[in-house]
Amino acid sequence: MALKITVIGTGYLGATHAAAMAELGFEVLGLDIVPEKIAMLSEGRVPMYEPGLEDLLKRHVAGAPGATGRLRFTSSYEEAGQFGDVHFICVNTPQKHGEYACDMRYVDNAVESLAPHLHRPALVVGKSTVPVGSADRLAARLAELAPAGADAELAWNPEFLREGFAVEDTLHPDRIVVGVTSDRSEKVLRDVYATPIAEGSPFVVTDFPTAELVKTSANSFLATKISFINAMAEVCEAAGGDVVKLAEAIGYDERIGKKFLRAGIGFGGGCLPKDIRAFMARAGELGADQALTFLREVDSINMRRRGHMVELAREAVGGGFLGKRVAVLGATFKPDSDDVRDSPALNVAGQIQLQGAQVTVFDPKGMDNARALFPTLAYAPSALEAVRGAHAVLHLTEWREFRELDPVGLGEMVAERRILDGRNALDPDYWRDAGWTYRALGRPMA
Ligand SMILES: NC(=O)c1ccc[n+]([C@@H]2O[C@H](COP(=O)([O-])OP(=O)(O)OC[C@H]3O[C@@H](n4cnc5c(N)ncnc54)[C@H](O)[C@@H]3O)[C@@H](O)[C@H]2O)c1
Repeated sequence: MALKITVIGTGYLGATHAAAMAELGFEVLGLDIVPEKIAMLSEGRVPMYEPGLEDLLKRHVAGAPGATGRLRFTSSYEEAGQFGDVHFICVNTPQKHGEYACDMRYVDNAVESLAPHLHRPALVVGKSTVPVGSADRLAARLAELAPAGADAELAWNPEFLREGFAVEDTLHPDRIVVGVTSDRSEKVLRDVYATPIAEGSPFVVTDFPTAELVKTSANSFLATKISFINAMAEVCEAAGGDVVKLAEAIGYDERIGKKFLRAGIGFGGGCLPKDIRAFMARAGELGADQALTFLREVDSINMRRRGHMVELAREAVGGGFLGKRVAVLGATFKPDSDDVRDSPALNVAGQIQLQGAQVTVFDPKGMDNARALFPTLAYAPSALEAVRGAHAVLHLTEWREFRELDPVGLGEMVAERRILDGRNALDPDYWRDAGWTYRALGRPMA
């Protein structure tokens, strides 16, 4: 009989995973503790912006016209326990307040709420990013709380999707990693992922700690790569070099590669910053803190970028922000997402406002989330409106729409034609030809 799947926690990861599992042919029940999310998803509406996700949802959600009806949502753990053979845990694992460590209470709650409803053999599969050692602890808790006892097994299956490409990444993963303790669990997960495996996605079977570490080490590597090129940008600025040319030139070396070498205001979002911090905290608990001290430097290079952008903007407007208008293009931590968690763009906008400037922000998809997080910033309905009367324009999230702006038309709206490119994504000549002063991190002035 075909496996029935539940997805617990329907945020960026879970909503995508639930819709993708339905696309792969499974009957799926999504569960969240936020009733508004369940109501929206049940109507075929996605509570966040993720390209292609709403179409996928509408193709499967029960009740939508022409849908397969394979996908439903609930807030009842009892229903989930009765329904599912495989339960994916996709809840959030944020940074603890005032500490580097990961806050595991959402994962713990999810497991503790589900377990008492597992009366028959079931596989609980953790997808959330957790500190190494969590799966061992949760497996014991599951066996203790589930009426099915040892027949309620745990597996760990870290998720590598990128916001902005989440649907594609979930349907066609570049690898599937499963931490398991039994052949049965491995077989169940091979069945779940039969389609991508048949398409060629590598399937890597590990123990629990390795599966957990694969995710945190992958994120640490990516964060390190970004901070590496940002450190080179700092040196380029000091020495009069050009980090964009430098990145191009080192990127031709296949061992280095071109990706993730764009210098700018650094990484943010709901994953990289908190994941490298939680990794350091966990390594400390394990007595392996020395191994990860470099991540402290990676983090500090990254955070320094935001301050540096503020300094460049202050310099650009003549040394002080009082009485100046600054336009900020971009609020999300990356393009093609509405996610503003730990967004460098909003952080820079907030700092500049605190120093006395009047800051107006525009973002193609992140306005509602930005407003909720930084209600005191001003928001404009378009890029053109945001730059009206500005003494400096800051390009802080590399949306395609910003690359396609017309610098001539924009130039007629601003007080001063000054653009600071915090993402090294605009074409300097194009802007300079239209009479703008273009400045970017890690590049010569003109
Ligand atoms: N967003 C990404 O790009 C991404 C990529 C890979 C891994 N991850 C990891 O996936 C996990 C989820 O991330 P996210 O970005 O989807 O977070 P999110 O905050 O968007 O979603 C989490 C969801 O879980 C729900 N939730 C919390 N406690 C619950 C409970 N006890 N029962 C049911 N639902 C509960 C929340 O209401 C929310 O809807 C995190 O561990 C994250 O590090 C995220």
